This record gives sequence, C-alpha cells and structure tokens, in this order.
Amino acid sequence: MHIGLLCAMPEEIGSTIGNLQNLSETNWGDLKIISGEWYESGAKSPSVYISAAWSGWGKVSAARAATRLLGQSCRGREIDLLLFTGVAGAAKPDLKQWDIVLPTELVQHDMDARPLFQKYVIPALKKEKIALMDQWVEWATASLQDSIAKNLIEHFGKVETGLIATGDKFIADKSVLENLSRELPGLCAVEMEGAAVAQVAFQEKVPCLIVRVISDGADNSAAQVFNDFLKDYEKSSWNLIETLLNNHKEAPWNTKPND
Ligand code: ADE
Repeated sequence: MHIGLLCAMPEEIGSTIGNLQNLSETNWGDLKIISGEWYESGAKSPSVYISAAWSGWGKVSAARAATRLLGQSCRGREIDLLLFTGVAGAAKPDLKQWDIVLPTELVQHDMDARPLFQKYVIPALKKEKIALMDQWVEWATASLQDSIAKNLIEHFGKVETGLIATGDKFIADKSVLENLSRELPGLCAVEMEGAAVAQVAFQEKVPCLIVRVISDGADNSAAQVFNDFLKDYEKSSWNLIETLLNNHKEAPWNTKPND
C-alpha cells in the first residue's frame, strides 16, 4: 500500500523521514516529495510505501502539493490514501491542546460566490461540505483511541470527529471564531489546508483522511500558544503517524470513493 503523507509544515512531519528506508526524492520547483518504505517491527519486506511532503500554509499551497503527491508512484504503486496531518485551532470549549479531531466533513469558510451560489458552496462541487469516507475515519479514530487508551502514545488527549472549517486566515480572535461557530453548527476546529486537500482527493477519487491535533484556541492568544505548541508537537508528530501505520492491516484499503 502507498500513502501520500502531506503536512503544511516540517514540524508536522517531524521525524517521519528518518523512520523510512530506501529514500528517493522528486522535486517540483520548491516542492520536495520524499518516498520511502516503512517496515513494521520485525517485517522482512516493506509494510507500507510512503511519499511525504510539506506544502506550506494555505489552500493554494495545499492543493498544489496534494495534486503533485497524487501523481507520485513508489515502486510502481499509485497512491492509495492521501493522509494530511497537522495542528488546528479549537472551535469548541471542550477541545484542549493535544486533543485530536478527525473531520467527517470539511467546509471552506472563506468560499463565498454569492449571489451566484449560496455562501460556502464550492462551485466545482455544487455543495458546501466535503465528506470524508466513514470507513477511513472510523479506522483512524479507533486506531488512535486504542493506542491512547493503552498508553502506547504520550501527550495526546481525546479523539473527536466532526466538522472542520478551512480558510486562508489564521484565526486569533474570539469574535471571528464565534461568528464562524454560529454560521457552521457543530464546528470542531479551524485550520488552513484540510478542505483544499479533501477537495482535490474528492475530485481525483482517492480516499483522504485528515488528522488534526489541537494547538490553540483560535483566540487572542493563539499566535503565541501555537508557536510554543509547535516546538513540542514536532517531537510527537511521528508517533501519531506511526500509530496509524501500525494499524495498517485493519485499514479499509479496498474501500474506494463512490463515483
Ligand atoms: N492552525 C492552527 N491554529 C490555527 C488557527 N488558530 N487558525 C487557523 N489555522 C490554525
């Protein structure tokens, strides 16, 4: 199996590359894709192929990197799953630093083509929310919950599923967050790439998973709190990715998006 692993920042990839074997590199201008093999403990042949990149912040950078990543093959194998991991601002008071949010749906909160389309509707898709595949979200949720419950990974808190909103805006203002939460009932977290990656995967008909770890409260202290958190998160980001890889045998590899 071959996972396209995308993050916005190098800190979110952490030590992933150092845990892969037989690395090769593909460059597209300033985008570097590193492919390699991941061996489950004790395995004699590669368990999962990984092609990894960090895109930079925002929807355009994320969509560009996702598209390039989906064109990457490794040992002749196309990408089976596009996996985006990184940090997000909490949009619910019960979500704290280190809690994990797996979106079942994503919205681009800065998409507004009124009066031609209703607010938030993505014209190319004619809908406002992009749903991820239940089987993949359930597998990742169960894998992470199980590892956390068994204390196999440190630091991480609870795992929640729900709605994530993406936009080209770092939210560091309680009133902006409150407006978004009012307009988007059930909103769990805000970030700057997920719905762009999910749109690319949806249009390219490739399964996609987004895994976000809460770094801040998207309030007036968000910038400082985010920067401090990132330094700690860099040391743990691989643990989250490795947890999913360790559960690769239970993943719904044969479940593809519907046409
Ligand atoms: N990613 C992490 N924290 C964020 C925030 N407050 N706003 C947007 N994206 C984020």
